[in-house]
Amino acid sequence: MTMNNYSNIYDAVGGFEGVTRIVEAFYPRVLKHPMLAPLFPEDIQPVMEKQALFLSQFFGGPSLYSDQYGHPMMRARHMPFPITPERAEAWLSCMRGALEDNDLPAELREFVIQRLSGPAHHFVNSNGDNEQET
Ligand code: HEM
Repeated sequence: MTMNNYSNIYDAVGGFEGVTRIVEAFYPRVLKHPMLAPLFPEDIQPVMEKQALFLSQFFGGPSLYSDQYGHPMMRARHMPFPITPERAEAWLSCMRGALEDNDLPAELREFVIQRLSGPAHHFVNSNGDNEQET
């Protein structure tokens, strides 16, 4: 894999600036995705800020999220939202796009997606049966 001289994903993507660029490419995709957009607030800025802090630490960088918000408990924090397997895949596909937008090497992109697909599927808490047709 192409982390080469880097010890973690955080460094390989370019540290906090690199993580921020990924987040900035990711949320516009999320907000355009018909399965994901309805879950998110109109003001996406606070979500983007938290995500940059969280991904920095998840990727092996400084513990920016925990320093500010305490234990991540990410599955619990996602419980208010109906996350179906399809939404987990949609989330990952937006992330795949964001990594491509940032011209990261293919092997690094694949590695990042692999690391995120565990949590994404772990956050699934709904099969969609109770969702209202809107
Ligand atoms: C599986 C599909 C996923 C869906 C549908 C989803 C959706 C959401 C939604 C709706 C929010 C709340 C937005 C708000 O504040 O109103 C949120 C917050 C968040 N999500 Fe996800 N998410 C998914 C996967 C992930 C994954 C894989 C990660 C990281 C590994 C992640 C990290 C976060 C973070 C850090 C926050 C902010 C938490 C906070 O409020 O402190 N999410 N997500």
